[in-house]
Order: sequence, then C-alpha cells, then structure tokens
Amino acid sequence: AVKANPKYEMGAAFDGDGVTMSLKSIIVPTTPFEGQKPGTSGLRKKVAVFMEKNYTENFIQCYFDALGSKVENSTIIVGGDGRYHSKRAINTIIRIAAANGVKKLLIGEIGLLSTPAVSNLIRTYKVLGGIVLTASHNPGGIRNDFGIKFNIENGGPAPDAFTNKVYELTGKIKEYKICPELDCEFDKMGTFEFQVDDREFIVEVIDSTENYVNLMKTIFDFKKLKSLITGSSDREPFNVLIDSMNGVTGVYVKRIFLEELHAHQENVTRIVPLDNFGEIHPDPNLTYAKELVDAVKANPKYEMGAAFDGDGDRNMVIGKGAFFVTPSDSLAVIANNLNCIPYFQKNGIHGFARSMPTAGAVDLVAAKLNKEFFETPTGWKYFGNLMDAGRLSLCGEESFGTGSDHIREKDGIWAVLAWLSIIEHKKMGIEDILKEHWKIFGRNYFTRYDYEECETEAANKMMDHLQNLLVNDAKEIVGKSYSSENKAYIIKKADDFSYVDPIDQSVAKNQGIRILFEDGSRIIFRLSGTGSSGATVRMYIDSYERENYTTDAQIMLKPLINIALEISKLKEFTGRDAPTVIT
Ligand code: G6P
Ligand code: ZN
Repeated sequence: AVKANPKYEMGAAFDGDGVTMSLKSIIVPTTPFEGQKPGTSGLRKKVAVFMEKNYTENFIQCYFDALGSKVENSTIIVGGDGRYHSKRAINTIIRIAAANGVKKLLIGEIGLLSTPAVSNLIRTYKVLGGIVLTASHNPGGIRNDFGIKFNIENGGPAPDAFTNKVYELTGKIKEYKICPELDCEFDKMGTFEFQVDDREFIVEVIDSTENYVNLMKTIFDFKKLKSLITGSSDREPFNVLIDSMNGVTGVYVKRIFLEELHAHQENVTRIVPLDNFGEIHPDPNLTYAKELVDAVKANPKYEMGAAFDGDGDRNMVIGKGAFFVTPSDSLAVIANNLNCIPYFQKNGIHGFARSMPTAGAVDLVAAKLNKEFFETPTGWKYFGNLMDAGRLSLCGEESFGTGSDHIREKDGIWAVLAWLSIIEHKKMGIEDILKEHWKIFGRNYFTRYDYEECETEAANKMMDHLQNLLVNDAKEIVGKSYSSENKAYIIKKADDFSYVDPIDQSVAKNQGIRILFEDGSRIIFRLSGTGSSGATVRMYIDSYERENYTTDAQIMLKPLINIALEISKLKEFTGRDAPTVIT
C-alpha cells in the first residue's frame, strides 16, 4: 500500500497480539426483504430500496451463501457502471466479502468496470465470479435504479438455477457476516492488505480498461482500424460519432477510439461516466439515443454513429444520415462477414444463435454457411453453455445485444469494432452493406413496441388472455385468418415458448407467447424481466420479404401491428393508446 500510494511518508505494522490492523468480523441478525428476485440480469430496484437498512447486506450475503464453500479463499471481481449508490454498495461488498472468507477482491478503479470487462477479467484470472453493480440501460441517480448481478466462473451471467437459489435464500435469511471496521478506498490503483479474523484479505484496485483493451487487440486488426479512422493515401478518414451516453464505456472509448485508433476528440461524445448519466436514459435506441441520431443526421461527414448503454454491453449502430440498422440485421451482417476478423480466422466459426423474439435474419446466414443454429430465450445467460461447449461463435438479441464467444456477455464496443472491420474490409458504407445483404438473403422487417410501466395486474391479465386464447385453446385458433389493410394472415401455430438447453438439458418455460403465421411472420408478446417498477409489455413483430426490401418497416408491418393489437386487446387491458418506445 505504501509503495503504491506516494502520499504515505511512512508505513507501520504491528504484530499479532491484537494491538491493531487485525480486524474482526461480526454476525448481524437480520430479517428477509420481499422481492429480492433477480430478473433477466440481476436484481434491479430503485436506489431508495437498496438504501434500506440491511437490504444490500442481505442480498450480498445470499450470493455468498448460494456459492457455499467455494467462497473460502476465492477471488472475486467487483465493479460496475458507476451509477449512484455504487460506491456505498462496493464498501458493503468489501466488508461482507472479507467476513465470508473471500481471499481477494479485484476492483475497477473508482469502481468502474463495464459488464464485458468484468466477463473478461473473470476469464483471464480464472476466478470464482464477479459482482457487477449496474442496472444496465435503466436510468440512474438518487431517484432512479440501482442493480446488482452476479457472473459465474465462465464469465457469464448466473444461470436460473443459481439466481433461484439466491432468491430462495433471501426469503429466509437470518444473519449476515460483516467486517464493519474495514475501510478500503478504491479510487486509485494499488494493493491493500488486511488481516481479517486472522486471515489475509487483499483488495487490488486495477485499471478499468487495460485487460479489456488487450483482449480487443487480440481480436481485431487495430492497424487496419486505425487507418480506416484516420484515413490513408487512398481513403478519406472514416468519421464515426461515438456516444457513450454518460455511461461506463466512456473510459474504454477514450482508450480505444481516442488513444489507440486516433479518432478526433469531437467524434466522441458523453464519454465521462456520470453517476446519474446526466439525467438521461442510457439506452442505445432510436428513442433514448436521439441526440446521436440527430447529430449524425445533421452532419453528413458522419458515415456512422454508435451508442452504448450504461454498463457497455448494448450497442446501436446507424449509418450515414442516421440509417438505422436493426440489431437483428446487425447480427446477420456480422455473421456473414466474420471471416474478415482475425479472431475468427484463427478460431474458426462454430454455430450462430439468437434469442426467440429476435428477427430471423441470422437463421438464413447460418443456413447458407452451413452452421449450427440455436433459438434461445431472452437473456444472454442462455448462450453461455453453447459457447462453453464450442458450438456457438456469434449471437445476438433484438434488445441491442451482439457478441461472440470471446467473453460470455454481449459487448457493445466489440460490436462497433466488428462493424468497422467489415466496413474496412468491404470498402463500403453501412447502408450499401445492408442493401447488398438484403438482396442476397431477403429482409426480415422487424419492430418492437414497448409499453413501459403498465399496471402489473393489467399486464398480467393481458398475458393470461393471450395464454387462454392461443395456448390453452390452440386447436381452435390454428387456421384462423386475421386481416388488416388488405393483408391476410393465417395462424399456423401458437405457443408459449420453452427451451431445453442442449448441453445440460435444463428447461426454461413461459418465455413469451408466440403467434406464428403461415407465411413465416411472427407476433410475440413478453413481459420485460428488466424493469424495476410496474410491468413493461413488449410486442415484437417479424415479417420476411424476399424481394421488397426497401420499404419503411413501420409501413410494411402496419397490418401485423394492427392484428397484434386486436388479438391481444392490449388497449383494453392496459389503457395504452400508443407504445412508449418503438424500435
Ligand atoms: C438484458 C439482458 C439481455 C436481454 C434484455 C431483455 O439486457 O442482458 O440479454 O435481452 O435484458 O430485457 P427484457 O427487459 O426484455 O427482459
Ligand atoms: Zn447493459
């Protein structure tokens, strides 16, 4: 500690006869809190809820209890998107980890680590797991959301079996262990050693970016990317406007885009992480990243725009004039062009996967390239087993997630570097790349309507209605025809999606109501698993066109949207006339 921190003019230690330095942990009685149920990715609640006495303590203790004897002498990664309440939560984690026999914590400087960076640290150092302090794309700040999630040994989000166990424990917790006198700062790099209950306990505060940047350098050809960005004798500089939306990616964007790839300072925006994200909703989509969309639209020098969410796992890519690339198309294009990325040249390309509501564009690429293909439930955790088994190289979700088996999380910066590699290789702009792709494969028109913060009861009733109509009475509904604006669709099949993991045979049920039509179009209804209050209804529409690929998606999908609203009686149940977000 003295070596690492020049402020110390002197250091002193004492022997083991109890004079000082040796800290003791205590056991504190507590009572359970209702609703500590991890959602699609971790526990997300309002900051005020996490601030309730013992709320965070209980939840963290339940992680350690669920991990059991593996905790003893383990190393764990800790960090997050820096949102409000992170510092306090990290202090709590340090004290509880020490009391539970953890040997070492690796903490990102100022508590900052993106979700992909945590995943890679877990894998690089082969540690027990990581505790990530984030509510991802949900707004932050004192009045908004905080969240805690756990990533396991393979670097991926904890599977259902683990989070269910944690939830069960939160319902009966009686005490937690804590070392209340342990104070350890984490705003500067360094190693800090403590004696806790006569064991050694170490906190190492690490550079938030180094390990991740090194990984990116092994995956992509940084020399080529730099020459794309800065321009070369035969090529103008390629201007990308990067928007970190005041989230954690700012520190990675600074390192990679400014320092490594020599992008112009004015081509990066909102790259200082703020604990309230500057009062915005750090979610990279057409609604919440409007500032980026407007800036790219307004300035023809931008050939591309990209934004990330709070914790850096989501991405949105737009082309010149703010030409929107749906995440489903983005996945398909990357899949079809992986051969220009060194990582895949070296490791080969195994299968592809997408979550069920994601449009089926990548399915067509998989078929053409003769690769295995998987359709999984919503949530990145479902990809992990397939990757560990060497059967999955690239996957994505409609919720602005794209990633590969380089880690076990989706990865926003990786996705943008993948796009830049493709652009560099093909010497084409984004819109042209998409048009070429649609010409070869046809186009999956896709849209998602979100109805945020509906009344929970109303949303549940709507889902029950769909379940009764489509699943319980499936026999009656199959073959039924619905029409709108002179287009008719016949129901081929309806179900509530369930998934059997091909590797460990675990089953995930009730993953969304699907209505499949004879022409291959799909309507899907799900309740979001990432909200922190009320219920968010998501309605997904996917429709394939072989020839006609240049129509506006909202116009193209209007008849199916009308049919979806008619079948679900969404307006009657929720009272909502219009969605809050359309992507
Ligand atoms: C998070 C997860 C994604 C998932 C998304 C869906 O971002 O990491 O894997 O697709 O949430 O959230 P939802 O709100 O639709 O449950
Ligand atoms: Zn996220």
